[in-house]
Amino acid sequence: MKFSKPLAIIVTTLITKPRIVQSLDVDLNSHDSIKSAASTIAYDMMLYYNGNQTGQIPGNLPPPYYWWEAGAMFGALVDYWYYTGDPTYNMVTTQALLFQVGPSESYMPPNQTKTEGNDDQAFWGIAAMSAAELNFPNPPANQPQWLALAQAVFNTQAARWDTSSCGGGLRWQIYPFNNGYNYKNSISNGCFFNLGARLAKYTGNDTYAHWADQTWDWMASTKLIDTNYYIYDGSDSNINCSNINHLQWTYNAGAMLLGAATMYNYTNGSTVWGQRVESLLNATAIFFTPEDIMVEVACENNGKCNTDQKSFKAYLSRWMAATTKMAPFTYDAVMARLRPSAQAAAEQCCGGDNGRTCGMRWTMNTTWDGSYGVGQEMAALEVIQSNLIAQVRGPVTNSTGGTSQGNSAAGSGPNDRAQDKIEPPTHGDKVGAGVLTAVVLLWLIGTLSWMIVD
Ligand SMILES: *[C@@H]1O[C@H](CO)[C@@H](O)[C@H](O)[C@H]1NC(C)=O
Ligand SMILES: *[C@@H]1O[C@H](CO)[C@@H](O)[C@H](O)[C@H]1NC(C)=O
Ligand SMILES: *[C@@H]1O[C@H](CO)[C@@H](O)[C@H](O)[C@H]1NC(C)=O
Ligand SMILES: *[C@@H]1O[C@H](CO)[C@@H](O)[C@H](O)[C@H]1NC(C)=O
Repeated sequence: MKFSKPLAIIVTTLITKPRIVQSLDVDLNSHDSIKSAASTIAYDMMLYYNGNQTGQIPGNLPPPYYWWEAGAMFGALVDYWYYTGDPTYNMVTTQALLFQVGPSESYMPPNQTKTEGNDDQAFWGIAAMSAAELNFPNPPANQPQWLALAQAVFNTQAARWDTSSCGGGLRWQIYPFNNGYNYKNSISNGCFFNLGARLAKYTGNDTYAHWADQTWDWMASTKLIDTNYYIYDGSDSNINCSNINHLQWTYNAGAMLLGAATMYNYTNGSTVWGQRVESLLNATAIFFTPEDIMVEVACENNGKCNTDQKSFKAYLSRWMAATTKMAPFTYDAVMARLRPSAQAAAEQCCGGDNGRTCGMRWTMNTTWDGSYGVGQEMAALEVIQSNLIAQVRGPVTNSTGGTSQGNSAAGSGPNDRAQDKIEPPTHGDKVGAGVLTAVVLLWLIGTLSWMIVD
């Protein structure tokens, strides 16, 4: 049957766009309601993903999403299964997490390495770490295993610890030919710290805890962590880290908070780490309104968040919730913020043709901010499902039911060193430099920290 074009359009419109105006409804007192909302958002988020379709590349999101954000998204789906028990996305998650491991099984796939930063690699390693801790179904025995993947990422990064400037620290970029190699930033060091603490807890191997201690001390010495426990974006090896970019992002605070909470737990509740956890948690207040709704203060109110930044609230949500398992004394304070944030996030899922597309500005409640994307869906998903944290067990370790196979030597062979020495790309292909441009431009214009809390 053939319709004339106008009729076809009318019919298609009638069939595909019922335009039922609704918004995502969630009752935070009902576990089923939270699960149902999480399921809806996970579905909408995965509409952006086509890596499991014929001819596509498993693990990649289409532009404008960078590779790291896909790793973050699969981490969110590991969490989704943990919170809801719904295995719908387990296969696609396992496929993606295994497809991107690269020849040395350390999340250094050749298609990405030329633009890969330590933080990019870490988000994939952290997804694998979560899979080990949460007893996500193990890959087939002939495939890389979750714990070994996390160890491989950690070991490749430990080998990059750089004492040639700033008294230590990881650089942001892995390769000297990339913009941002001079930058020593909190997300790279924070993820390394976070992963180190979690590997110490999971394996009981103290070497990881020493690295976590060293990373904390270095960040404190450079004032990337200040005396208020604010976490600043980064500094520069060209000036020996004598000056700091004072922008604050939710994900930096989150990475440090969970790392500190895990160290607190690993040290059987040491006073030092307990005090750090408490102070870091207090310092997250900068990201919450008086009504306890989470805001990406550096860019949200002026509408300047880029694609990456639109996802950051997902990670503060994820890591605040996980903190309550490692440092149970934080539970009330954490939930006092995650609950109102989840309510507001659900209300902001009210846009688009389906009437439930999630915007970024949770403070606008049921007035959609007009934005949409993987980051917005992921942030809403993580903050809403986090409200089930009291219903799920904490992370396992290899002595409390963890089943993931590790390899403490993963990522530390000669081939792993060799892949850190690749030649520069011939066409100056700098696709990975998006975050850098934003960060450095802001920094060059001046210290904008006064703008942050407007
Ligand atoms: C790398 O890119 C090639 C060409 O697009 C593709 O065939 C391959 O599957 C990709 N591998 C990974 C791990 O992304
Ligand atoms: C750079 O900073 C480190 C750590 O503060 C310090 O030990 C080192 O002496 C400094 N180097 C130079 C050349 O100033
Ligand atoms: C460490 O974590 C476990 C599991 O969540 C918890 O039962 C225990 O109380 C924590 N330890 C401390 C010192 O809070
Ligand atoms: C602990 O981890 C380090 C760093 O990866 C490794 O070299 C060492 O062999 C591990 N120790 C044990 C007992 O597994």
